[in-house]
Amino acid sequence: MSNLNKEKLVEAPTWLCGYKYNGRLVGRVSKNKVVVEDIEFYVLGNYSQNFLKRLAEMIEHGVKINPASLRDQVVYIAAKLNSNLRLNELLKDIQQEICTIINAEAASILMYEADHLRFLVTVGKASGKIESIPVPMESIAGKIFLEGKALVFNDLETNPVHFKGVDKVAKFKTKNIVGSPIWVEDEKIGVIEVLNKDGGFSEEDAETVELFAKLIGRKLLSAWRYEKFSESFKKILLAIATAIDKRDNYTHQHSKNVARISVEIGKRMGLSQQELEKLEFSAILHDVGKIGIPDSILLKPGKLTDEEYKIIKNHTVYGAEILSQVKYVDEDILKGALEHHERLDGSGYPYGKKGEEISLFGKIIGIADVFDALSSKRTYKEAWDFGEVLKIIEADVEKGKFSKEVFEKLLESVKELSEN
Ligand SMILES: [Fe+2]
Repeated sequence: MSNLNKEKLVEAPTWLCGYKYNGRLVGRVSKNKVVVEDIEFYVLGNYSQNFLKRLAEMIEHGVKINPASLRDQVVYIAAKLNSNLRLNELLKDIQQEICTIINAEAASILMYEADHLRFLVTVGKASGKIESIPVPMESIAGKIFLEGKALVFNDLETNPVHFKGVDKVAKFKTKNIVGSPIWVEDEKIGVIEVLNKDGGFSEEDAETVELFAKLIGRKLLSAWRYEKFSESFKKILLAIATAIDKRDNYTHQHSKNVARISVEIGKRMGLSQQELEKLEFSAILHDVGKIGIPDSILLKPGKLTDEEYKIIKNHTVYGAEILSQVKYVDEDILKGALEHHERLDGSGYPYGKKGEEISLFGKIIGIADVFDALSSKRTYKEAWDFGEVLKIIEADVEKGKFSKEVFEKLLESVKELSEN
């Protein structure tokens, strides 16, 4: 080992907080510990195993590695946070990263709503339980928001301000908190709270959370607004679909049910979040083309003539035509509407497509549509029970009409939906 190497100081990448070698800590610890060549490395987010291996060899040879400053690391993490608009994914990333940066157990984000704060959807044990609880301004989160600066509370057992309503619902024991208002320029939009650190939080932790909260504000606000917009948009779509269902004497839940079952099947087939959203959109509007079918045919009691049946079949083509006018709609969404009556053996309509000629959305929505039509009450029939309906569809799978794989995912989905 040459003296030259010993004197060399290597700047580490921003994701390296510190490392422990021969019991000596260089830099600082974080939640993520990676052991490479007997050296404990503390890292943030993504790291390169190869790079750590190289660093380990250098450390073994006496080279000093200089981890990035905490400030640089916070800036780096905030910048690389998910920049797409999915609120759930962004929240999950924010929570995980801040916990790793300051070595804490959990984190939550609250948005300001007129006279109280409200939790955003969270990951972990409290998920789905605490979003509906309004948190009063006389709470710790409220105090952080109103004072407009980061605060540390290491005395929660005895602090009368601590709002215990959330811990009770989430079955979580908050021991200590560091929190900061979340800023978008000069406006406070909410609060980030980081919870439970062994030995309590320091003033340095408060500064770190405050910096992080300033850096994520705009991204969080855009994702939150987008989420609200897409919720309203989905409600409008459902209203349109319900109107179509009603005209067809269907239960008003038909399109909603088909969408719910389709998404459950899609999840089990490994579709991404973005693909699932498209599938939901396509399933909600799969029968939108019925707008183009005259009442005299759509509502005709009794048997349809061949000519009338031919017109009914056109609802798939009309649907695809209507959806093609919408900018957001792509090929996958169109095909859900166009191909949900196609069958693998070529017996379906409008084109009599076979096997792999039919899109995945067409196959999924097709089976979900039949499942809901058979298991719901109609003017001309009672609701059939799930077991009976699944047997009918299974017979069609054996005849080669539906995909075996999609049917298996339908079985799993129905099992789970009926248990909940
Ligand atoms: Fe249809």
